[in-house]
Amino acid sequence: MANLEDVQRRALAELASAADSEQLEAWRQKYLGRRGELTLYMRSIGGLPAEERPAAGEAGNNLRRLLEQSFAERQESVRQMELARSLQAEAIDVTLPGRRPVVGSIHPITETLRRIRDVFAQLGFEVFRSREVETDLYNFELLNMPPHHPARDMWDTFYISENVVLRTHTSPGQIHAMRAYCPEPIRVILPGKCYRYEQVTARHESEFHQVEGLAVGHNITLADLKGTMTAFAKQMFGQERTMRFRGGYFPFTEPSVEVDMDCALCHGKGCRVCKNTGWVEIAGAGMVHPNVLRNGGYDPVAFSGFAFGMGVERVAMLLHGIEDIRSFFTNDLRFLRQFGQLL
Ligand code: DAH
Repeated sequence: MANLEDVQRRALAELASAADSEQLEAWRQKYLGRRGELTLYMRSIGGLPAEERPAAGEAGNNLRRLLEQSFAERQESVRQMELARSLQAEAIDVTLPGRRPVVGSIHPITETLRRIRDVFAQLGFEVFRSREVETDLYNFELLNMPPHHPARDMWDTFYISENVVLRTHTSPGQIHAMRAYCPEPIRVILPGKCYRYEQVTARHESEFHQVEGLAVGHNITLADLKGTMTAFAKQMFGQERTMRFRGGYFPFTEPSVEVDMDCALCHGKGCRVCKNTGWVEIAGAGMVHPNVLRNGGYDPVAFSGFAFGMGVERVAMLLHGIEDIRSFFTNDLRFLRQFGQLL
């Protein structure tokens, strides 16, 4: 009996200091488990003289009830404490501001393409989409360059097979447009990617963009071409721009011109961008060659037309003072984030 009182005292004291479920379980094993102190006591009763057994058994059962009840109470309060601890540790502050999703911005080339499109839209040109993979027939032959024509050397070409190429310019779209519109008059621009087998430098990339223009109708003259190019340059680069048209050569136009604009960066005084000439070339252009009109389905006696092709990277570089064409294709976010405010 004295032993039992000692067990009760220790058991209750230790239970009060059990602070988590592990310690609780260890306590349960120690006192109430199969080899627990109380269990051993109950088993030892059989060895007592018969008259002592009832009292000893009753005392043991009373203590078991007391311990079991105390254990259940302690277990509940430990559970509450553990819950409170984990709520504290894993707390989420729902009042913190959220993280902004990254939405990106419009690429400077896309932005420039849209501005070019808007200017020509005001002049009555619509967009005609054409393919990037072309046949030799469209990229060269129908543009008045038969096989072995030396002018083909003006374009360093990626061949997919003997007769299939990555288009070296947007000009083959002229033929597609003419064949789609014929015999109606045409006023279209053809924007898109072109490819050339180039040594990549600050001025040349093997992948770049052009915007082709094509007007076909009755009584269209070189004056219309000059007026259109001038209106475009002024809209795009400022009303104070002046133009220069130099004779040039392209197999698909006759006559052909190089379209220059006074340098918008130095106002014609001469700088690095215009290589100290005061002028920058913005397009190749000319009157559509009779053979090309014929290849598009038009009678060159009844119809005439002008065409031009401009480099979009060149326009974007002039607009923003960008010095290296490679910046457009390296995906450096420090560069790209400066553009695309139109989004
Ligand atoms: N296709 C020419 C090039 O890539 C540019 C060009 C010149 C286009 C004269 C034209 C044109 O439509 O008439 O170099």
